[in-house]
Amino acid sequence: MEKLTSVQLREKWLNFFKERGHAVIPSSSLIPENDPTVLFTTAGMHPLVPYLLGAKHPAGKRLTDVQICVRTGDIDEVGDATHCTFFEMLGNWSLGDFFKKEMIKWSYEFLTEVLKIDVNKLAVSVFEGDEDCPRDEESAALWKECGIPGDRIFYLPKKNNWWGPAGITGPCGPDTEMFIDTGRPKCGEHCSPACDCGKYIEIWNDVFMQYNKQADGSYVPLEQKNVDTGMGLERTLCILNGYRSVYETDLFAPVVNRICELTGAVYGEDEQTTKAIRIVADHIRTATFIIGDVRGVTPSNVDQGYVLRRLIRRAVRFGRVLGLGDGVLSELAGMYVDIYKGEYGYLADNAEKIRSEINKEEEKFRATLQQGLKEFEKVITHIPTRTVSGKTAFRLYDTFGFPLEMTVELAKEKGFEVDEAGYAAAFEEHQKRSQAGAEQKFKGGLADNTEATARLHTATHLMHAALGKVLGGEVRQRGSNITAERLRFDFGFDRPMTPEEIKETEKLVNDAISAALPVVCEEKTVAEAKAEGAIGIFDSKYGEKVKVYSMGDFSKEICGGPHAANTSELGRFRIVKEQSSSAGVRRIKAVLE
Ligand code: SER
Repeated sequence: MEKLTSVQLREKWLNFFKERGHAVIPSSSLIPENDPTVLFTTAGMHPLVPYLLGAKHPAGKRLTDVQICVRTGDIDEVGDATHCTFFEMLGNWSLGDFFKKEMIKWSYEFLTEVLKIDVNKLAVSVFEGDEDCPRDEESAALWKECGIPGDRIFYLPKKNNWWGPAGITGPCGPDTEMFIDTGRPKCGEHCSPACDCGKYIEIWNDVFMQYNKQADGSYVPLEQKNVDTGMGLERTLCILNGYRSVYETDLFAPVVNRICELTGAVYGEDEQTTKAIRIVADHIRTATFIIGDVRGVTPSNVDQGYVLRRLIRRAVRFGRVLGLGDGVLSELAGMYVDIYKGEYGYLADNAEKIRSEINKEEEKFRATLQQGLKEFEKVITHIPTRTVSGKTAFRLYDTFGFPLEMTVELAKEKGFEVDEAGYAAAFEEHQKRSQAGAEQKFKGGLADNTEATARLHTATHLMHAALGKVLGGEVRQRGSNITAERLRFDFGFDRPMTPEEIKETEKLVNDAISAALPVVCEEKTVAEAKAEGAIGIFDSKYGEKVKVYSMGDFSKEICGGPHAANTSELGRFRIVKEQSSSAGVRRIKAVLE
């Protein structure tokens, strides 16, 4: 049977929903803008949060896309057949338009008519109900109407059949999930998609987003009822083509083959080798996308940069086990650029940066890895308990560049544990001593849609405009992160700002605040926005219209919002810090008082 390719599956998905009135929108960046509650975009719905909460989307009420996502919560599982740290999510949405009836019918149609999955192989689950939300009899009845018999409809609790929010607060609701029944015998009387015996494999999730979860844990009904669905591209390709793992799909196979060719390793021969090959293939793919993103980051010791560092260093370690030579990881990254550049052209534009950042990080780590591993061996042969002390773990980090997670993993392989609390204490102690702990880390717990963050978001636009006026030329935004306490803004500029320039920037922003400018939002095409001199990231591929926020003649910027209604709501603006972020990039932190 001819195999379905990734290009075909993406196309089938988008066409199916286009034919049903959906607008095809481009994938957003992997690095969320203005959302401090998560480091990466973890689902297709994530960039759409403002619209799920009621803001009007420029492309309409029915949307579909293929969103690139990173989830590192399961990084330890990578190496098995299905877990990936990066994946593409096929998604479609109703923003207060259609609901359960249409979506369940379409899901059935897509699975059985487009993907031609045998209906006898389908099983579904629906929400069993609790004090927050009633039992979902409606969805069960709709599935029955489609022809799914009652014994393949499972009622499951919140733990299984509820989705979101993506961060701590935000839109969420009960879902109905679709599974392929592999035909294996039931593992017991209560065998269901909720158990992990492997009989049922999830392929699609339709979320009926009806609630907005609050910081206090309560669920407030949303005025606008939405549908949010997600199907994993890699996993679906794997199932439809009858592969044993996602690594056999056209997205991975060339890289897996190249690793084998270079090392003489045989994929699938033994568990250890297969796992190592998969880890290298997975982590380098994710690193390629993180570095090559439109808001790409480079390896560092904080936030996304730290995750990236961990991924590359873990790939180096497992590559070494396989006997992969120096500098090969960046060659593999280049292969991914080729595999994906048809869909994500910016990877090709950033190919050189991807190559050099991976090489730099690999070199840095290789210089200490060997010695660090020796040190690790020495330590564990000499400790009487089966616990590696926090101090040792910190020394491995500080001197040899071992991320804590790597030490934990190495220890686990030997049947040891690591005193992680002790590590945290040693880390803190070190930070205090070196006075490097000035950076106030965001502690979580705040939605991205509070009034405080909206005001800081508006202030970011004013400051962005002011920087352009003060520093001249094109001050290009490189990153933005907003918490309820402060804004943080990275921009390309190759020297520190002078105290006068900082003062002038503050003054321009405060003048704009005093002028009580209304914040006006208009929908325009990218071409119109560009022609009017709006600033912002023009990364739309299919995106027809964008939102342009203007504040008088002072600022005009493409952005998804949310914002304050008038600049007079902002209070007084003050820059608290201007520092280097990385080569050629400055970072400003500022507050509203
Ligand atoms: N948000 C849901 C998920 O991630 C459906 O898209 O599974």
